[in-house]
Amino acid sequence: MKILILCTGNSCRSQMAEAFLHSFDNRLTVCSAGTEPAEKVNEKAIQVMCEAGIDISRNIPKSVSRYLSETWDYMITVCADADRNCLFHHALYSKKIRNTILTFNFMEKNIKSVVKDTYTVIARQSKEQNETSCCGVGGCCSTVDYAVFSENYRQLKGYHEDADLGLGCGIPTQFASINEGDSVLDLGSGAGNDCFVARALVGETGRVVGIDFTDAMLEKARKNNTKLGFQNVEFVKGDIEDMPLEDNQFDVVISNCVLNLVPDKRKAFAEIKRVLKPGGHFCVSDVVVKGNLPEKLKNDAEMYAGCVSGAIEM
Ligand SMILES: C[S@@+](CC[C@H](N)C(=O)[O-])C[C@H]1O[C@@H](n2cnc3c(N)ncnc32)[C@H](O)[C@@H]1O
Repeated sequence: MKILILCTGNSCRSQMAEAFLHSFDNRLTVCSAGTEPAEKVNEKAIQVMCEAGIDISRNIPKSVSRYLSETWDYMITVCADADRNCLFHHALYSKKIRNTILTFNFMEKNIKSVVKDTYTVIARQSKEQNETSCCGVGGCCSTVDYAVFSENYRQLKGYHEDADLGLGCGIPTQFASINEGDSVLDLGSGAGNDCFVARALVGETGRVVGIDFTDAMLEKARKNNTKLGFQNVEFVKGDIEDMPLEDNQFDVVISNCVLNLVPDKRKAFAEIKRVLKPGGHFCVSDVVVKGNLPEKLKNDAEMYAGCVSGAIEM
């Protein structure tokens, strides 16, 4: 069996993966390659692999271009966005891969846990604490103010102070054309801030569902809802990329400062389309980026959780 391990960058991680696979089964033909191979193998990688009892000191970093003409049984990518952003990935996948492609998106997994951890801490703090960056989620070392984009909701019908953690960026319900009786879904509902405003618009005959994947946020939102006594507002646990909701259910989907936190935006938009009724619509308030963010910022997990580095590019 022939396996290619592809790195979007220099081939350090793929070399480590190659060496591990060889050590499991030396009958496998495994090659590793990067899109921008370094001149020599990273010293730290050599050291780490040495601790695992594997010597990669004599390996030579290779460019993926040398493997483009070959046919592979499997390709394993070790970078988060290879399937979307790596041209070599597309070229290889379209012509040369016989079997399933295995994509290990370590970074996406990590990003989601950073987001969950961050919003767990935020859910347990007051709006005032979140607004004061020194006492905010990152503590005094944090450079991110998580409430920097927030709007004043106080004048809105349905506003509930305990649900307002100052985490939004805009007020989507103002532009979402929500009518009485509508059924509305709020993506990344947090403590329920936009859901309760939407409830005031849909009234008794409508329905509002908030979805969020952070338990502490759901707990807070449900507690707020119990206090308010709404029978037609519900908070569901789930990931926006794969929602545990049936097709064609909602007239309107809204979201406030959340899609920038979702790694796979295509999946998110496909899910929005799936759950909307035919003729339904969505209204998203979010952070977008014009131009390119510096690489260092793009890869900063704290800036990602602070709604900056995952912003949709215009
Ligand atoms: C910046 S806060 C905004 C909360 C709320 N919309 C508001 O304005 O108060 C982002 C929220 O989205 C949730 N979230 C982020 N990524 C998510 C995902 N992939 N699936 C579900 N919820 C997600 C977080 O748990 C958090 O509660």
